[in-house]
Amino acid sequence: MFGKVFLAASVMALTGAASAQPAPNPDKQAAALVKQMTVEERNLLLHGFFSRPNRINKLPQIGAPYAAGYTPGIARLGIPQLAESDASLGVAWINGKRAKDATALPSSLALAATWDLKIAYAGSAAIALDARASGLNVLLAGGVDLTREPRNGRNFEYLGEDPLLAGLLAGETIRAIQDQHVMSTVKHYALNAQETQQNNIGVNISEAAARESDLLAFEIAIERGNPGAVMCAYNHFNGPYSCASDFLLNQVLKQDWGYPGFVMSDWGANHATADALAGLDRESGEEFDSQIFFGAPLMALDGKDKAYTARVTDMNHRILRSMIAVHLFDDPPKIAMPDIARGEAVAREESAAGTVLLKNNGVLPLLKTARRIVVIGGYANIGVMSGGGSSQVAPQSGPALNIPTTITADDWQAVVLHSGAPVRAIMARAPGARVTFDNGAYPAFAAAKAKDADVAIIFAAQWTTEGLDVPDLSLPGAQDDLIAAVTAANPHTIVVLETGGPVLMPWLDKTAAVLEAWYPGIKGADAIADILFGDVNPSGRLPLTFPASLEQTPRPKLDGLLDFEFGKTAVNYDIEGSDVGYRWYARQNLTPLFPFGFGLSYTSFRYDDLKLRSEGNTIHASFTVTNTGIRQGRDTPQVYVTARGKTKGQRLIGWANVDLAPGASTRVTVDADPRLLADWSTPRHRWMMPAGRYDVTVNSSAAAVMLSGATGLEKRLLPP
Ligand code: BGC
Repeated sequence: MFGKVFLAASVMALTGAASAQPAPNPDKQAAALVKQMTVEERNLLLHGFFSRPNRINKLPQIGAPYAAGYTPGIARLGIPQLAESDASLGVAWINGKRAKDATALPSSLALAATWDLKIAYAGSAAIALDARASGLNVLLAGGVDLTREPRNGRNFEYLGEDPLLAGLLAGETIRAIQDQHVMSTVKHYALNAQETQQNNIGVNISEAAARESDLLAFEIAIERGNPGAVMCAYNHFNGPYSCASDFLLNQVLKQDWGYPGFVMSDWGANHATADALAGLDRESGEEFDSQIFFGAPLMALDGKDKAYTARVTDMNHRILRSMIAVHLFDDPPKIAMPDIARGEAVAREESAAGTVLLKNNGVLPLLKTARRIVVIGGYANIGVMSGGGSSQVAPQSGPALNIPTTITADDWQAVVLHSGAPVRAIMARAPGARVTFDNGAYPAFAAAKAKDADVAIIFAAQWTTEGLDVPDLSLPGAQDDLIAAVTAANPHTIVVLETGGPVLMPWLDKTAAVLEAWYPGIKGADAIADILFGDVNPSGRLPLTFPASLEQTPRPKLDGLLDFEFGKTAVNYDIEGSDVGYRWYARQNLTPLFPFGFGLSYTSFRYDDLKLRSEGNTIHASFTVTNTGIRQGRDTPQVYVTARGKTKGQRLIGWANVDLAPGASTRVTVDADPRLLADWSTPRHRWMMPAGRYDVTVNSSAAAVMLSGATGLEKRLLPP
């Protein structure tokens, strides 16, 4: 049974063995189109608007799916409209409202916990197919900012704390979307790591640290996915706003990485017409800006000022070449009923594969013969938690619960539960059991019920949202008290977490098992039950560190929360530099609550026979993985470099996904991305690999070394 559930037919069908070919010579075609544009037409594609309901009357009534962003096409030249929706977790907006006919996938952090590129591809292909069926041709997806701040309210929209893991997964989601001929962004460029004062906050970081961390994640995602657009972020970056940063846009992105596509502003992130000269190509959600900067003001300069004229030509060229390369001209979306069943099958597999078993004293998997099960708290009688903000998906069958957070109609941060009640999924798995539910409002009542049960399963939910960080890492409300009371009453207590990111667990020692299910999406209830009852063997691995306390993190105090001064308050990311997450814990010799890469299974694995081979500017690590338990299971052995020449420091250089029957072995090889063996040399403007001995380990998590070895490399500059 185990193993069959993973990568079942629905996922395999969407794994994208071969990418669609880019259209022949998009640059030539774009240049020819730009030449034909009138003065007015040269301005049309350079700004777009957000389709709030009150704007709809102003939009052309052509059945256009006004979503999060819209730019009309130019019919005379056959240029299609750009109909844009948020889409990291599913199609979020249609016609200025939350989408209805869309699949809600698990959070991006849940995807990151799969460490699986095939699942990433399948999920995003399903989203893109939903988008096409809704008439959309651009998805505002590809969130890849690294988790530098565990309190960040948008951590659930990103892919964790490691540039290789996040970059590869983001690249694969982008590739999947664009293979369906829907354009994808990668966002938010760059270092948009907290929501507190996100529109105004400064971010300070040295060039080398940025290039080795967050910028590397973008670089890898762009190489792998070739996104049509890059969305620049709200925050300032070493001075200017990100969308006005010549360094980020012109120098790094366009010059160093040779990025041929266009840069669009985040909604409200364009602050001046001069941002065009810094490399911004498209003003998005223009009604969020203090004025329309790329409309009339830009037109007034086009043809009169050489620099602006050249930019307007280039801006149009970049937008058009992306549209052509992604086939928006020759394969427009067709409105249809989305295939919800297909999306839901993918969502379920992704959720189960991303659920991380953090603790198990043997209580799991639950026997289907358990007689008395009490399910407690977390709205488990209603549905599963999701994250708020622009990425929020309102799937066809939901929301199961929508708790407004404001008194306005535009409640974009509402607490939304997706339908599918975990308690019902549990009842379906254990038909012979007496399953009861307690909402957990009064810990003493819940404890009394737990005392009377064979097993207690507590669901603990943490709502997080765009626009708001969490003030600390505690579960909100009295959930810690609830868990403490229930575990005191019944030692066979399993905690299922539905959180946006890491939380503290003061009750951990008292529990029998803990599962981290993140925001598990529309099929979350079934996926959680699949794991609880052993229909799926858990294989998720943490894509970020769970701190033991805020004091362990680089910034115990959240910058800008109580002390914000415009133009002055800046987050100092040079504290950790490029040592984000586990690299910081290794550097500081700290033991977190749970390390990056951690996750248990219902089986066990052994690693043997590490062979290291250095070749040119890379290292190949090969080793054998054996399933030493009695169940089929998936494992994610991780390869880290821990010292390079005289430099100590831990970095993930690769991993393998294996799926093994009991007793079976396989030999895997992991090849290091040379940039992870190097440091960025700002004076030389290149990657530099130190000469000497390279220590390499094979781990089951960042903190658990299973094999170690060493090899040597020559000093190298990349490119030479
Ligand atoms: C978010 C973006 C999103 C945009 C459009 C902004 O608030 O930061 O991620 O794509 O809105 O909805």
